[in-house]
Amino acid sequence: MNPDRTEPLVGGAGLDGAAEGTEAPDGAGLRLDVGREAALARAAAIVRGAWRSFDRFRPGQPAIDDRVRELLNVGLPEAPTPVLDALNDVSRILDESIAQPRPRYFAFIGSSGLEIGVIADLLAASYDLNLAVDAAAATAVEAQAGRWVAAFVGYPADCAAAFTSGGTVSNISALAAAREHALPRVRAEGMAGVRAAVYCSRDAHYSIVRAVEMLGLGANSLRSLPVDSRRRMVPEALAEAIDADLRAGIVPVAVVATAGTTLTGAVDPIDTIADICSERGVWLHVDGAYGLPAASVSTHAPLFVGVSRADSICVDAHKWLYVPKPCSVCIVRRPGDLIRTFGHDPHYLPRDRAQQHAVDMTLEYSRPLRALKLWLALRTHGAAAFRAAIAGNLRQAQLFHNEVTRYEDLEAFDEPQLSVVPFRHVPAGVRDLDSHNRRLALLIQKDGRAWVASAVIDGRVYLRPSFVNFRSTDTDVLSLIDIARELGARLAHTGTLRRG
Ligand SMILES: Cc1ncc(COP(=O)(O)O)c(C=O)c1O
Repeated sequence: MNPDRTEPLVGGAGLDGAAEGTEAPDGAGLRLDVGREAALARAAAIVRGAWRSFDRFRPGQPAIDDRVRELLNVGLPEAPTPVLDALNDVSRILDESIAQPRPRYFAFIGSSGLEIGVIADLLAASYDLNLAVDAAAATAVEAQAGRWVAAFVGYPADCAAAFTSGGTVSNISALAAAREHALPRVRAEGMAGVRAAVYCSRDAHYSIVRAVEMLGLGANSLRSLPVDSRRRMVPEALAEAIDADLRAGIVPVAVVATAGTTLTGAVDPIDTIADICSERGVWLHVDGAYGLPAASVSTHAPLFVGVSRADSICVDAHKWLYVPKPCSVCIVRRPGDLIRTFGHDPHYLPRDRAQQHAVDMTLEYSRPLRALKLWLALRTHGAAAFRAAIAGNLRQAQLFHNEVTRYEDLEAFDEPQLSVVPFRHVPAGVRDLDSHNRRLALLIQKDGRAWVASAVIDGRVYLRPSFVNFRSTDTDVLSLIDIARELGARLAHTGTLRRG
């Protein structure tokens, strides 16, 4: 064994020995004040406690207590606090925070904090690698994990992937590549008065607006296209919009098809959109931040036909691949597209290696090893376990929808396409159902047995649960119906009393 190599640890041996006999550096005050084993043991106990508490729903969300309030009002600490005390404080703070991995957290599109992913994050942070430049094995892990995601969702293997902090940055990165493709002089000259357009459905995620703003195209360049009765982009409207822009001398930069909208889980007709794009030579980006992992499930794969034809895609592994945030992947079909967009030659980056540095393919400089949690999760559990968990969430969404339709005081929005299932409480005698459902979402949050947020669809307020947590049981999912009906009835009753 090479003496410079870190030996694989056996039973924690060697954790405390490394500093023995060495000269104290000036930063000695940054050493732990207890043995590493003790600090790690306390941290492990906190993690164990958290995981145990995520195994089952908890009956309420604790309020922020006085001790925590006091802590959070303290100014910059000059003096040290013993690490075990500080860890205990952190444990309290975390316990009094809203944690998405809890099995009855149904708001927004949550994440699950998959345990092996948490362990991978600890390991990756310990080595604190920087994937801006070639980091040897870790750089290869990132590329491999990207190819695994591509294979999982049915995208060609000879692609290039970059891990980012989230769907927002993945979408901005992909649209930057599309802009470079459509306007090859844009990096030097800016938009220079060129009029350009990006196309998406009106239900696309706000990150697309943010992207066109950040890329200097301007929010007015975004064509927010109509949706059909199931809230999918209308392809005829897309073709007309592109053709009208071409006639007006406006450059179509990209079409964004959403594979699972945040609002209702609608999947745009990707294959038809791909036909329209290829006939006109326009870049197709598929925003699969939320929904694309469902392409791996045979019952839902037909919804995603055409994704393999996209120029770029993005998937948030921190959504429906269950690993902790942040972990998104932006994948392009031709690696050269990212290199042309982000490649550069600063004086402080050595260029004597054949390998590509990630800073020449991505927006960021300092880049942590975000891919390790997904790599380790897929290696540990295998892709089949992920498919089964996603299929389970899809089944739960249908179960939830079926149950909603059984009650007269509930109204379903639509059959679920994926795992977002908007519904609303419609008790007899309540005239302003929008205000009722907005208040009901807040009341459910205050009650704390489950967590859900409201959303506005065509001007009407719905409760909008999403089911993307591998920890949620069918009982957890269905509990939201009982809680919404119970609290909704109470709210309707007090409202009626007040009016009367
Ligand atoms: C379809 C879609 N795209 C992009 C995003 C943005 O992802 P992030 O919050 O990771 O930046 C989301 C977030 O919910 C989303 O649902």
